[in-house]
Amino acid sequence: MAAARTSAPNPDILITSRPLDEYCAMFGLTRALLAALPGPLLDCPGGAAGLAAEARELGCRVIAADPAYALPLPEVADHALAARDSMAAAMAARPHLYPATGRCRSERYLRSWDRARRLFTADSATHPQRYVAAALPRLPFADGAFALTLSGYLLFAYPELFVPEGQLAALTELVRVTAADGEVRVQPLYDGYGRRCGYLDRLRYALGEHRIASEVRRVPRADGRTRRVLVLRAADHRRRELGGRRSGNSH
Ligand SMILES: C[S@@+](CC[C@H](N)C(=O)[O-])C[C@H]1O[C@@H](n2cnc3c(N)ncnc32)[C@H](O)[C@@H]1O
Repeated sequence: MAAARTSAPNPDILITSRPLDEYCAMFGLTRALLAALPGPLLDCPGGAAGLAAEARELGCRVIAADPAYALPLPEVADHALAARDSMAAAMAARPHLYPATGRCRSERYLRSWDRARRLFTADSATHPQRYVAAALPRLPFADGAFALTLSGYLLFAYPELFVPEGQLAALTELVRVTAADGEVRVQPLYDGYGRRCGYLDRLRYALGEHRIASEVRRVPRADGRTRRVLVLRAADHRRRELGGRRSGNSH
């Protein structure tokens, strides 16, 4: 893998620390599906997530990529602790955006982030090679290197930082590093105020022009509703089934 040169992390973007179970819920994955992946998983951005450490326990190899890894990795965990406090404040200020979180539930939720951050700290100290400093839209990985690529809470969450051209370039890059029979999954498709991306159809059309097939898949949420995940794959390739319910809304 080529070494990446990246600049310091963007202070406007939180470095969060989600656990594996939250990743599974966000992307419509299961532990069994992760365990059965035929190749490595890319988590970009990885933040200070527990995913790499926890998925390894299942036998799933995870590489996390994030520009924040240009910092000493213990500092990344310090940023994640600050992000956890910002999240606590946001949950208190905008509870309508976090409908499933009453006071007790939000405390339990934030404790899951604390646990994930501790896992990240331990894993990144013993296996720093799993954490690659890199920034979209250019990743230092070979074509088709990953069986599954996940990208959470970045490209649509911060629309002021990723204009549509930047999103298109980043999505195209994520597909490039993913195996032809694999998938890229991206979520959320709304910003930090819960506003949906208003030009998703145009973006998907542009992806199609790059020979990238896209689908907005609805995955079940714990509260009985569904969440939308953008699923991408190279066009003209037979898809390996990774599970998940389809919306029928594909290009
Ligand atoms: C809100 S966190 C999301 C982390 C993780 N995916 C999650 O769901 O918790 C956003 C991350 O994006 C990283 N980031 C910022 N700019 C980036 C870029 N150009 N390419 C990749 N990651 C970037 C930040 O360093 C930060 O760790």
